[in-house]
Amino acid sequence: MSSIAAKSRQSDSWFSSDLQFDLLYPESIQRLASMHWTPLHVARMAAEFLATGEGVRILDIGSGVGKFCLSAAYYKPASFFDGVEQRSSLIGHAEAARAILGLSNVAFIHGNFTQLDFKKYTHFYFYNSFFENLDGTDKIDDSIEYSPGLYNYYSNYLYKEFEKMPVGTRIVTYCSWGDEIPPAYSVVQSELDGLLRFYIKN
Ligand SMILES: C[S@@+](CC[C@H](N)C(=O)[O-])C[C@H]1O[C@@H](n2cnc3c(N)ncnc32)[C@H](O)[C@@H]1O
Repeated sequence: MSSIAAKSRQSDSWFSSDLQFDLLYPESIQRLASMHWTPLHVARMAAEFLATGEGVRILDIGSGVGKFCLSAAYYKPASFFDGVEQRSSLIGHAEAARAILGLSNVAFIHGNFTQLDFKKYTHFYFYNSFFENLDGTDKIDDSIEYSPGLYNYYSNYLYKEFEKMPVGTRIVTYCSWGDEIPPAYSVVQSELDGLLRFYIKN
């Protein structure tokens, strides 16, 4: 077997199940998976919709430990996936997993999504990233300040960025109430009893 085939076979095994994929991370991160990281079958459906052609660049707004970006990059090697994440420790875990998987069509940016130029991106993925700010919700850790005011601020900010995007822009939301989606976007597909929604801007 050639070394390229051997490498691809090695990487394939990480994607055989969520349990297997989550072993890329330490136990403290694995424990958060069911509540905070995108399952592989969801990432696969979202990537299928967002990766519309060669040269497409997709942003995961709040990329956590990179599970969406890494699996989408694996399923769609002709597209590029960026993740922006406010917690530097999670960026570290995402980078470590990327190195093990040997994927080159994915990158992680440490910072707040409000610092990014959305015009650099074609389509977007959003797993209800601001939810932690609401009272009584599960938190990833206690390293940041939470407040319902921040939930509203970020949701409004994202709404305005999405409003400025051109016709044809695609968004996939997972477990989101849709507060951040302007009316110019239509739901064109819905899966998992509405938990996963696919939008296109008219
Ligand atoms: C529910 S997790 C989803 C992680 C990843 N998208 C996935 O699907 O596996 C949401 C992430 O968004 C991050 N986040 C929340 N607000 C953010 C902001 N304003 N800028 C950047 N990241 C943010 C959180 O730190 C958290 O890691």
